[in-house]
Amino acid sequence: MKIGCLQFKPELFNVQKNINRIKELTAGKEFDLLVMPELANSGYLFSSIDELESSAEEIPGGEFSKALSETAKAHDAYIVSGICERSAGRYFNSAVLVSPNGTIKTYRKTHLFLEEKKWFSPGDTGLNVFEISSKKFGNVTIGIMICFDWIFPESARTLALKGAQIICHPSNLVLQYCQRAMFTRAIENRVFTITANRTGSEVNGGKELRFTGESVIVDPKGNYLHRAPESNDECFIIDIDPSEALDKNVTGMNNIFEDRRVELYNK
Ligand code: ACM
Repeated sequence: MKIGCLQFKPELFNVQKNINRIKELTAGKEFDLLVMPELANSGYLFSSIDELESSAEEIPGGEFSKALSETAKAHDAYIVSGICERSAGRYFNSAVLVSPNGTIKTYRKTHLFLEEKKWFSPGDTGLNVFEISSKKFGNVTIGIMICFDWIFPESARTLALKGAQIICHPSNLVLQYCQRAMFTRAIENRVFTITANRTGSEVNGGKELRFTGESVIVDPKGNYLHRAPESNDECFIIDIDPSEALDKNVTGMNNIFEDRRVELYNK
C-alpha cells in the first residue's frame, strides 16, 4: 500500500491558490492514501469571524471538497485533509476523508488548541475509524485525529482500540514535541502514523505563528519511515504493509490490548 504525506504552506484565506498548490504537488504521484495538513484550504491564524467566513466551506459542496474529490478520483486514491468547515452557522476545524468514488466522511477536531477555541466549535463527531478498500491493497482501517489531539493519548488509543491500522494526522504544529512524541503514539498502539504538517509562518492581527514542518511517518515498531525537511514543500510516498499493525504483541508474553488493566484505570 502506498501511503504518504503532503507538506506545504497554505496561503491564508486563499483557497484557490491552495487548491492549485495541492494539484501541482500531487501531479504525477502514485499513492493509495495521502494525508494533507490541518486547515489546508484556509490557513490557520484567524483574527476575525469575517476571515473565517471568507475561507470556510460546507462539506461536501464547497470548492475545496470538490477539488479534493477530483484529485482522489484522478489518482484512484483516498485523501485525508484538514479543512475549515462551516455548518449551520458554526465553524469546525475538521478533516475530510475523500474516497476515489466521491464519498466524503468528516471528523471534527476534538481538542482545540489555544485561540482555536475563539473561532471553532469543539468537535462533536467523536474519534472514528473508517474502512478503506481497493483491489491494490485490500481492506484497511484508518483513523483520523487533528494536530493537538496528539497530546491526549486517549485520541490515538481510542482509534487503535476501534481497529485503526493507520492514524492519519493533519497538523499545523507550532510546539516542538509532536514529531518526537509520534514515536510513542505509534509503539504504544502498534499502528502506523502519518503526521502531515505545514511549513512557513503566518502574520495576522498583530500576531505571528511559525509552523515546524518535518512531517513524519512512523511504523508500528517506532521506526521513522520518513521525516520531511523543516521548510520545503513535498509530496512523499512510501510503500507499507498495513497488516503489520494487526500484530499487537510487544513480546511473546505481552499484548498491548489484552494486557490492559482497565479495572485499575479509573481516575
Ligand atoms: C494545533 O493543534 N494546530 C497545534
